[in-house]
Amino acid sequence: MSYIVVTPLVGVRLHDVGATAQIALNEKQSILEEIFCMAQNTQAAKERRHHLLWQEDQQPDPCAIVIFGATGDLTQRKLLPTLAHLFKLHPQQQHFCLVAFARRPMSDDEWRTMALKSINTFMEDKDKLSSEEQQAFAQQLFYCQADISDPDGYKKLGDLLAKLDKENGSGGNRLFYLATPPTLDPEIIHQLGHAGLSHPTQGNGNGEQKTWTRIIIEKPFGRDLASAEKLNRTLARVFHEDQIYRIDHYMGKETVQNILAFRFANGIFEPLWNQKYIDHVQILVAESLGIESRAEYYEESGAIRDMVQNHIMQVLCLTAMEPPASFDANAIRDEKVKAMKAIALFSKENVFTRVVRGQYTAGTIDGKPQVGYKQEKGVAPDSTTETYVALKLFIENWRWADVPFYIRTGKALPKRSTEVTIQFKRVPHQLYKPSETKGLVPNTLTLRIQPDEGISLRFAAKIPGASNHLRDVDMDFSYASGFGVEPPEAYERLLADCILGDSTLFIRRDETETSWRIIDSITSAWKHMSPDTVHPYAAGTWGPAEADALIENDGYHWANP
Ligand code: BG6
Repeated sequence: MSYIVVTPLVGVRLHDVGATAQIALNEKQSILEEIFCMAQNTQAAKERRHHLLWQEDQQPDPCAIVIFGATGDLTQRKLLPTLAHLFKLHPQQQHFCLVAFARRPMSDDEWRTMALKSINTFMEDKDKLSSEEQQAFAQQLFYCQADISDPDGYKKLGDLLAKLDKENGSGGNRLFYLATPPTLDPEIIHQLGHAGLSHPTQGNGNGEQKTWTRIIIEKPFGRDLASAEKLNRTLARVFHEDQIYRIDHYMGKETVQNILAFRFANGIFEPLWNQKYIDHVQILVAESLGIESRAEYYEESGAIRDMVQNHIMQVLCLTAMEPPASFDANAIRDEKVKAMKAIALFSKENVFTRVVRGQYTAGTIDGKPQVGYKQEKGVAPDSTTETYVALKLFIENWRWADVPFYIRTGKALPKRSTEVTIQFKRVPHQLYKPSETKGLVPNTLTLRIQPDEGISLRFAAKIPGASNHLRDVDMDFSYASGFGVEPPEAYERLLADCILGDSTLFIRRDETETSWRIIDSITSAWKHMSPDTVHPYAAGTWGPAEADALIENDGYHWANP
């Protein structure tokens, strides 16, 4: 079921795609019925959400989730609301336990009060828990007070987990979530290993159950190749690779996963998906916010480490990879790594000519004033950290030879938008007169990752009338109207997958290292470049003029949303 919205610049018409009007009518009716049913029947709505998260034949195992950094911002704003919602949809709520491991002295009850306050503040209204659900959720929360470097703390944690297995039926399965500053990760990993908490039991046929133990590591995963390799070695000393879930929340977004469905479940696009038909590709991740209160982190990372090394590289891989042999986690990740390995590293000369970095100065975004980056609280007055990057790269393989990929990301831009734009080549011979095709752009496919999630295809159409004049029109698919249900939130999808033991959407060791190798080839050149190669741009504009020149010198324009 899908729609086409034809937008001849003015006016919007909505058509069902269907072989006959009758099919279209039936479809429309069933959509309306579904929406009506969802509004009327909350149980049905709950079951739909449930099935978006756990498939009908999937029974998530009982488990205990241990959060390190439980009183921190990420846990309060993101993890607790996500876990509360997972709990709400969990088929076996009573076996789903949550343990906070943190230094601050607190009782179980105080932690429960804190957690409920967070979920009430940060959960979306439509997902909020009823007071009975809140009580039930609170009963599954436990607090383990300890310093992360104290071996006794891990012993205490082990005892608590054993007690929960016995009394709450968490079944010996453990998921450790490191929501701590990255500098603390090695110590926690080491202590978990030392306390014997990293080994699942194998089951011995004499009543001992086979269990699992997994660990989720948040980004940033290192700050360069050397530190990422070091962290990978630390992890590998304690955990097997198949226990390690490196998270990149972009992979949890439905629209990012849909890049694979779009390419590999449709017959008509893949034959065109190569250098023969594609002229160039643009990937944009624009944000309208500045760095807010994250100066301490951002000063060290900048846009290239914060967005390009991880989120953009993932979107790029899904766009450029070869079809995997199957939808198995390793088959997909093998292809992603292969695509990344084909990206040519940047020489110093390339960095000079193909990479533009910028930093926002004061300006106005959506009518609101935005201070310049250097005036943000906690930023050094002479900071050269980039808040914007535009670059051109090539993937040196048969599919993509000579096709430029233009990547762009920045803070304090005019609007929030993530898009992949595929521009196809022009027709080999134009039959229409230049006056009839004036202003016509080549076919363009846009995958709108967020917001206003959807896909649109721009093509030429004849303007009705006696003349032969053409103009661009859009075929547009919108997730919101096409499916009528809210997709699961990215973190929710990823946590559910980790509980199910599906690592497809998580980042494998070689992926992190391959990606850092590319980023290092840029940042190592930046170290020797003058600070005035960090070009200023006013907040609320689309970045520095030098970035426009980067693409315009090749005869193209940025596809701004
Ligand atoms: C985070 C970055 O990983 O992703 C942030 O650290 C950025 O700087 C965020 O704002 C963007 O995520 P999303 O889902 O809002 O596009």
